[in-house]
Amino acid sequence: MKKTLLLITTTILAVACTQSRVEKLVRQMTVDEKIGQLTMFTSDWSVTGPSMRPGFEKDIREGRCGNLLNAYTASYNRKLQEIAVNETRLGIPLLFGYDVIHGFRTIFPINLGMAASWDTELIQETARVAAVEASAAGIHWTFSPMCDVSVEPRWGRVSEGSGEDPFLGSRIAEAMTRGYQGDDLADPATIAACVKHFAAYGAPQAGREYNTVDMSERWLREFYMPPYEAAVKAGARTVMASFNELDGVPATASHHLLTEILRDEWGFDGLVVSDYTGIMEMTFHGTARDTCQAGVQALEAGLDMDMMSAAFYNYLKGSIERGEIKMKTVDEAVRRILRVKEELGLFDDPYRYCDEQREASQTMTPEHLATALKMAEESAVLLKNEGVLPIKKGTKVAVIGTLADDPNQYLGSWRAAGDGSYPQSILYAIMDYNGEKNVVYAKGCRQFGEDRSGFAEALRAARSAEMVVMVIGEDYSWSGEAASRSNIDVPGVQTELLEKIAALGKPVAVVLLSGRPLALERESKAAGAILEAWYPGTMGGKAVTNLLFGEANPQGRLPVTFPLCLGQVPVYHYMKNTGRPYLHPGFKYESHYLDIPNEPLYAFGEGLSYTSFEYGEVSLSADSFGAKGSITASIEVRNTGDRAGVETVQMYIHDRLASVTRPVRQLKGFEQISLQAGEARTVSFTIDPETISFWRRDMTYGPEAGEFDLYIGHASNDTKAASFSYED
Ligand code: BGC
Repeated sequence: MKKTLLLITTTILAVACTQSRVEKLVRQMTVDEKIGQLTMFTSDWSVTGPSMRPGFEKDIREGRCGNLLNAYTASYNRKLQEIAVNETRLGIPLLFGYDVIHGFRTIFPINLGMAASWDTELIQETARVAAVEASAAGIHWTFSPMCDVSVEPRWGRVSEGSGEDPFLGSRIAEAMTRGYQGDDLADPATIAACVKHFAAYGAPQAGREYNTVDMSERWLREFYMPPYEAAVKAGARTVMASFNELDGVPATASHHLLTEILRDEWGFDGLVVSDYTGIMEMTFHGTARDTCQAGVQALEAGLDMDMMSAAFYNYLKGSIERGEIKMKTVDEAVRRILRVKEELGLFDDPYRYCDEQREASQTMTPEHLATALKMAEESAVLLKNEGVLPIKKGTKVAVIGTLADDPNQYLGSWRAAGDGSYPQSILYAIMDYNGEKNVVYAKGCRQFGEDRSGFAEALRAARSAEMVVMVIGEDYSWSGEAASRSNIDVPGVQTELLEKIAALGKPVAVVLLSGRPLALERESKAAGAILEAWYPGTMGGKAVTNLLFGEANPQGRLPVTFPLCLGQVPVYHYMKNTGRPYLHPGFKYESHYLDIPNEPLYAFGEGLSYTSFEYGEVSLSADSFGAKGSITASIEVRNTGDRAGVETVQMYIHDRLASVTRPVRQLKGFEQISLQAGEARTVSFTIDPETISFWRRDMTYGPEAGEFDLYIGHASNDTKAASFSYED
């Protein structure tokens, strides 16, 4: 009891002290100094790393720039921090932000790949490792987690998120937030998280980057908002407004998003930053006559920090003087920013994140690399396997494709401070494992272009071997920001070569590197096995090799649907039934295509293993429950193969009759279990009112009484069924 009292008193004191320190500063600050705190500029780069643009040091010295992005290394950031702390009137420390998206120096698989692991604990660990490495190099704040749900494979940034599903996306968003921030933001090994891009950035029309987004409030709330909200509820201290418009209003100046939903509904009290030049871009959106007006609109909507528009820097003072914005609004934004600096412990020790010794000793440690290897192994999804994999050690293997020996590719986009020359290539890792004499390599062709000059050599190599591993895919720069594609085929002449090699009749395993779902109809016909390895990061070469040779057992599951072809897009597992579901194949007037099936090539949740799992029937603790109750659904899962494996048991529901249409299947739970050969385990899920809640016709959130279908199984298209009812 005494202890609790002491803790409460200390917490109250700490909060009061934070408030008073921040309040005291706000009272002391000039208008220019306040504007400086609302301003973020980028550090420049020179050949040797980050370097300051002429004039920026002056801005820091004069207190006109209180935040920087793209500055890192302990020594560089310390130099800049010294200017802010020692040479400005109030000595307010700088806040350093950076895109630490899937690792800092140790690079993990791209985020879509990590999502494919469905292993939220390991994902949390990757964020913790990233925080340890980044925080030692002067960074306080990462622009991650990216919480944008997307069903749009043309969009290059689908690679940066957790895929199509709001439930899985929410669990990952929470895990990453916890990983970055830990329990104490002031701990020098933690950094502040930033929930982005708020909101619905993942739904650009036609998949074209930065394009218009428009959707109903219901769709937004149900399918796009949950991961942002989950990250906020997990304590993320910052949020980034997205570039896109939503319902005709640029998110950067959306009061509905930034104040009504984020702050009033969700209770967020951290800082909101614009995306890069997001404020200025409102002049192009056509909702602000100039950057000055755009700045006022953004601040009034609830945005606090201007990244790179220099809107506040150049114009805010004038707006204040002309009475276009209240000083109260400006002060509130300043307060929110200073509070985050305070929580990070920067007022107590502005240099606690600039630790050269820690930077040297805690970067790419054997533990960090082991986590990267495990994550890369868990993220790969075995899409097809007709007895081709695993490869027996000592088999004569032809490795084909330039991507097999281009490790720089494996880091993917947003590689932070990752070193593209560090990873071992897939080719070298295979040679290490399988013995050089058992490996023959041919470039074959590149990941783009029409050059077929390497075909003959590749075919010769294939003929000389017992089997072929072909590494194909997209160049890493074809996904990420500003990397939309108009088709989702495997680029160039790679598939043509694959088909020629397959025609030799040798077993062919494809290793696919991609930052998005690709249309793999031809590849799935030609290859005996397909392993989707995404961009697997620093330890990618070894991870892929371990998987190919069975040293690791594939366990990844698709976090996003792989369409049969672009014409099906958008295609995702939580589609609605329509008034004319396709129940009578061949009947014209039901919802379908004339020329292709409705079903995707690989459904959400799919992924094979080298062992096999068998499911029993679903058993329920009761057939119904009420407002204060719950039921338990259980199912036995047995490993029926001859080796250990990990199975991700997935639970979906369908509300048969409701005030608004409901998805035919919607993920509502998952659990990962590790089973030895022959072992069986019962997995249970609790179903309560939250499980079946949704945005009802009157836009309140909650459950409705009625009948529900419950599906539990291996993937969204491979489940056992039961049903239950809910009574108010
Ligand atoms: C991206 C953000 C990123 C920011 C800062 C923008 O172009 O949209 O995701 O955090 O740049 O680098």
